Amino acid sequence: MNSTETAGPDRSSGRSPDLRDYHARERLADDGMLLIRAILPEDGPTLAAAFRRLSPRSIRQRFFDVRKELTPRDIAYFTELDFDQHVGLAGLVDDGDGPVPVATARYIREPGGLRAEMAFVVDDDYQGRGIGTLMFRHLAGIARRRGIQCFEADVLPDNDGMLGVFRRSGYQWSKSPRDDVLHIEVQLDAEPSTESAE
Ligand SMILES: CC(C)(COP(=O)(O)OP(=O)(O)OC[C@H]1O[C@@H](n2cnc3c(N)ncnc32)[C@H](O)[C@@H]1OP(=O)(O)O)[C@@H](O)C(=O)NCCC(=O)NCCS
Repeated sequence: MNSTETAGPDRSSGRSPDLRDYHARERLADDGMLLIRAILPEDGPTLAAAFRRLSPRSIRQRFFDVRKELTPRDIAYFTELDFDQHVGLAGLVDDGDGPVPVATARYIREPGGLRAEMAFVVDDDYQGRGIGTLMFRHLAGIARRRGIQCFEADVLPDNDGMLGVFRRSGYQWSKSPRDDVLHIEVQLDAEPSTESAE
């Protein structure tokens, strides 16, 4: 897969590049283009609309409940990010008619810690095209550059899509049963193996 990436204009200044300027382009296996950029506050209405399109199954897999709407407070939480503790990426697919927002990926770092909780969602109509895998790769790259050593998530045991993303990531990962979910840990402190990442 071809990919290009820019992470803000101030690399040469020695300061940490501003993730709000993060941009990347990836070619999907079926030849669509995936544009990846930071989630911005103006994405609120798009995110609310995307949530309304999600199937009950995807909502259950992401939130573990059957909520029907995101509250204004949820939307502010999901879009007004500090890009330090809470980092989020939006994925837009261009199949030839212009970019359509279809995915988000985020992590929330524990205060002062080396671990972060991650979460992903891809619109139902766009699942299974490799988008989750690519979003994971970019989010993990950002996290590693910022010193995060481990991603964690709780995943429902029947979430084959998300388990597939971890399997394809190339990173060492483990799952352990915890109540009704699988607790996932992905070790980011070693290079991913390219064999399983492709
Ligand atoms: C989980 C999710 C983010 C994966 O994104 P995606 O873009 O569909 O993932 P990819 O296309 O990169 O596929 C990864 C693997 O999962 C498989 N897969 C994707 N969707 C699947 C599904 N619904 N059922 C079974 N397998 C699926 C793919 O075929 C691929 O498997 P492979 O490694 O055997 O080839 C997406 O399905 C989703 O948003 N689900 C609902 C919300 C959710 O579960 N979030 C995760 C909680 S943190």
